[in-house]
Amino acid sequence: MTDPVRVTLEGHDESASVRVYDDEGDVSTDDATFRFSVDGGSEGGSSSDETDATDETDETDGIAPERPATASDDTRRIAPLAAVPTDGTLRCEARSGNRGTELILRRTGDEVSAWRNSCPHRPTVRLDPGPGAIVRDDHLVCHEHGARFECGDGVCTAGPCRGATLDSVAVIVRDETVYLADDRFDSCHRLDEPVA
Ligand code: FES
Repeated sequence: MTDPVRVTLEGHDESASVRVYDDEGDVSTDDATFRFSVDGGSEGGSSSDETDATDETDETDGIAPERPATASDDTRRIAPLAAVPTDGTLRCEARSGNRGTELILRRTGDEVSAWRNSCPHRPTVRLDPGPGAIVRDDHLVCHEHGARFECGDGVCTAGPCRGATLDSVAVIVRDETVYLADDRFDSCHRLDEPVA
């Protein structure tokens, strides 16, 4: 398979979505795991106690495990600091093996915050569907039902998921460049540029 496919599993209380680059893959929620194979292999659901948390950002109660990136770590270099907008977001994809997780980056001064590109109200809804998320008064605003999330800690202060928190992903800025610093992922690349 040359192009990635996006697979979404919706449960009663949760949904999860991944981009998959291989012929086989799986996606999990708390309720179930769905495995698939595009070449006709086994397919179906199973109970969640088989594990594999596709929703990797839920593992740490919002605290992203961090590992320092080094300037020589090309796969963890995301973008020049100047490419990250203050009045919108930059869409990226973090990879762990053959799984991709969409992220959004937003800059405040010389600092950059990153979150999973997913609204807690309806996780299949991207906060940034492509042209950049809506930013108003230092809040990200969901285009679907108007939930507002503080750009600092990602907490929803108004809207249908008030009190929920965006899934934070650790990044660092070094030498005017943004690097992935989250140990759950191996690499990250911008979605507005072809992969090198
Ligand atoms: S999907 Fe984002 S507020 Fe409803």
